[in-house]
Amino acid sequence: MKKRKTYEQLRSARWMVPDDQRSFGHRSRTMQMGYDPTDWEGRPIIAILNTWSDAQPCHMHFKDRVEWVKRGVLQAGGFPMELPALSLSENFVKPTTMLYRNMLAMESEELLRSHPIDGAVLMGGCDKTTPGLVMGALSMGLPFIFLPAGPMLRGNWAGKHLGSGTDGFKFWDERRAGTISKEEWQGIEGGIARSHGHCMTMGTASTMTAIAEAMGLTLPGASSIPAADAGHQRMSAQCGRRIVDMVWEDLTPDMIVTAAAVENAVTVAMATGCSTNAIIHLIAMARRAGIPLELDDLDRIGRKTPVIANIRPSGDTYLMEDFYYAGGLRALMKQLGGKLNSSAITVSGKPLTQGLDLVKVWNDDVIRPLSNPVYHEGSLAVLKGNLSPDGAVIKPAACDPKFHRHKGPALVADSYAELKTIIDDPEYPLTPETVLVLRNAGPQGGPGMPEWGMIPMPKALLKLGLRDMVRLSDARMSGTSFGACVLHVAPEAYVGGPLALLKTGDIVELDIPNRSLNMLVSDEEISLRRQSWKPPAPRYGRGYGFLFSKHIEQADKGCDFDFLKTEFGPQVDEPAI
Ligand code: FES
Ligand code: MG
Repeated sequence: MKKRKTYEQLRSARWMVPDDQRSFGHRSRTMQMGYDPTDWEGRPIIAILNTWSDAQPCHMHFKDRVEWVKRGVLQAGGFPMELPALSLSENFVKPTTMLYRNMLAMESEELLRSHPIDGAVLMGGCDKTTPGLVMGALSMGLPFIFLPAGPMLRGNWAGKHLGSGTDGFKFWDERRAGTISKEEWQGIEGGIARSHGHCMTMGTASTMTAIAEAMGLTLPGASSIPAADAGHQRMSAQCGRRIVDMVWEDLTPDMIVTAAAVENAVTVAMATGCSTNAIIHLIAMARRAGIPLELDDLDRIGRKTPVIANIRPSGDTYLMEDFYYAGGLRALMKQLGGKLNSSAITVSGKPLTQGLDLVKVWNDDVIRPLSNPVYHEGSLAVLKGNLSPDGAVIKPAACDPKFHRHKGPALVADSYAELKTIIDDPEYPLTPETVLVLRNAGPQGGPGMPEWGMIPMPKALLKLGLRDMVRLSDARMSGTSFGACVLHVAPEAYVGGPLALLKTGDIVELDIPNRSLNMLVSDEEISLRRQSWKPPAPRYGRGYGFLFSKHIEQADKGCDFDFLKTEFGPQVDEPAI
């Protein structure tokens, strides 16, 4: 370890060292908690931002894991300070955790700023917790390590491996089609989530922790370790030990999250068959680090990066547990060969690509070679046209190829409630060619861009044996979803994006190879409709929602608050003590 800081230069020393009344208060109150001066003198203070709560099943092991982190911090000569942060359970938080991702980002940044902290371990994993924690910590700029929660074990029911989310959607369609019984449905309910950890498909959680690792923000290999594996305890203690050294080395995130690191993160995301949500979070995270990532960059990298992780929902069989046994994310990086930029370093202080030559791929059906990909291009495509001037996204690998070029009449719902009545009402004109549209479900309209984009299949089509159709919305969809769902249409309908002007019966044309999305309506007709469009009333008159609607940016810009962008305004000063 190369020590670049003395104890007196540490941030926490400003709180703990001076011979004045303020510092007397900090020391006497630390002693109130039972500590002696030997517990803190000469030691960096390490924050552990813990997103554990009774409402967060994906992080229920964090109550235990935090003790392993503390142990590591103590072993390396640091002083651990656990600080609870918003737990953002994907299941329980309504209308959507996306409404609160930026709240967690603000909380993370300000927790680190306002306390006597020198470095941090961020404990997250359930979808929005990863970007929320990372965005805040990037803006604060102290050395930090991200500790991924790890995926839960494979689901298990009736001799089958069940995948989070993905199989819930799949079997619900079967239940609605009347092909499985109530008892079978209850069996699935008890078997689909059978250990702690985040969703074990390649959904948003697994994608985001992989992205954090590829950006250099976790210990090498950390993101693939199943939550229930003893290796997860060991990794937690290692995070504690390593962050203390990082503080002495002054290894700050600006040295790690460079343009090369962001490019590596995008490449790895594409190769995993990543969640569409990742696009929004990648843009937001990169921009917090001062890297101006655009949708077009994602499409460019996507076009030259095949999907090689054969994990559901892009793959058809395997889950994250299989991915770990096959070698995990390090093995996937090895398979990517020269596609990764070797100039990027990780929290280890060493290049991301160092040691990849020694990594083994134990199952090359799970982690495929570039010569035998799951899908020939990256998992996401960006579509532009008169319906989405600022872009929309689709996951071509997760939909039936017959929809890659499609023309069909729109059936438009203005709200989720309306959509629910439309889909099962025989009155509405529905054919397999219909493009089912949900609007006013974007960042402002949702509000918070809920995961409504995998619009349920209409009963009438399910009964015909169909399981996919083209769906279009300004919402997001769960990373565990699948189907021909065009999402994140920007600008959203609620702020007057052209999606607001689409009418039932208009022909929508989707062309994935040419990356276009259009309504076949003349420009004259569109401008006529624009003249009669009236902006809807604001969603909130007070509270957090009010702040949210004043400052939230559109999906193509990462849905950050304008004032949280690192380049917004002058740097925030260190707090006066
Ligand atoms: Fe937490 Fe899926 S519900 S990761
Ligand atoms: Mg999810």
